Amino acid sequence: MNDGRRHLLGMSDVDDTDIERILETAAGFEDVVERDVKKVPTLRGRTVVNLFYESSTRTSSSFELAAKRLSADVVSVKAAGSSVDKGESLKDTVRTLNAYKPNIIVIRHPQIGAAHLTAKWSDAHVVNAGDGKHQHPTQSLLDLYTIKKRLGRLKDVKVAIVGDVLHSRVARSNIEGFQMMGLDVTLVGPPALIPPGIEEATGVKVSDDPESMSEADVIYVLRMQHERMEPGQNFVPTLREYARTWGVNSRRVKPGQVVMHPGPMNRGVEIAPDVADSGVSLVEDQVEAGLIVRMAVLYDLMNRPSIGTVIDFRERTGEWGAA
Ligand code: CP
Repeated sequence: MNDGRRHLLGMSDVDDTDIERILETAAGFEDVVERDVKKVPTLRGRTVVNLFYESSTRTSSSFELAAKRLSADVVSVKAAGSSVDKGESLKDTVRTLNAYKPNIIVIRHPQIGAAHLTAKWSDAHVVNAGDGKHQHPTQSLLDLYTIKKRLGRLKDVKVAIVGDVLHSRVARSNIEGFQMMGLDVTLVGPPALIPPGIEEATGVKVSDDPESMSEADVIYVLRMQHERMEPGQNFVPTLREYARTWGVNSRRVKPGQVVMHPGPMNRGVEIAPDVADSGVSLVEDQVEAGLIVRMAVLYDLMNRPSIGTVIDFRERTGEWGAA
């Protein structure tokens, strides 16, 4: 289906040219967010709806601020406290908000495919702000921006993505985005937390040796995603044991390496406070990048010719990790 609307549902909706352009646009917005008056009229008269069915601090606040910085009218709806509590379905909620004729809907939802359904049920451009363990494309874009800004390049940067890859939409989007931009990706963690067959499916390397983190330029640490595990499921013996073996602490980080984490962090589990609070941590740089990259995505959807169009979600069910 191509009705002229453009959506960012996953990293397969962009190519390397789109990513370069979005990162360049974001760099142009650096100046705007440093001014006394942090606003440009780019989206004046446009409406952005943020619809969040899952907890969020960074993504929800930065999308709201990004839209406001661009002078859009913004409506933010969180499932808790909305008519979702009274049993309203996703479809009815989307149709209700669509009646206000928004230009863009940003949606986060625990179910894979919710952003695609939102694109189907509304007349707006849709941005996926995280759907289950499937995709979180703006996280990947802001991570690429952060790496490029700190390291001065993307090509051939070695990244070790460490921890709970199995339940992570950030890992899925970053594997695609990082490989598209020529980074060298290794997944590091206990085998129970690495999706079987991922090497063949994606071309990444996999290591179950914590020492392999020492070869990376960037150690990208993931949180244990307990909310996506079944009750009683144990992927590691204990969190203390996990922290001892896989936790990134100052002894683990080698000179010249930097550490990233999408947040929220579980200090003392996957990342030690002495790393999180040190100069090697890019965590706050990632948050800063989140605002300007999301401004760039909103701008791009409204003003530029590309970013992918809606694709039939049925085509994606065989995709790795999406089932
Ligand atoms: N990284 C990320 O998505 O953080 P939030 O859950 O706080 O939005």
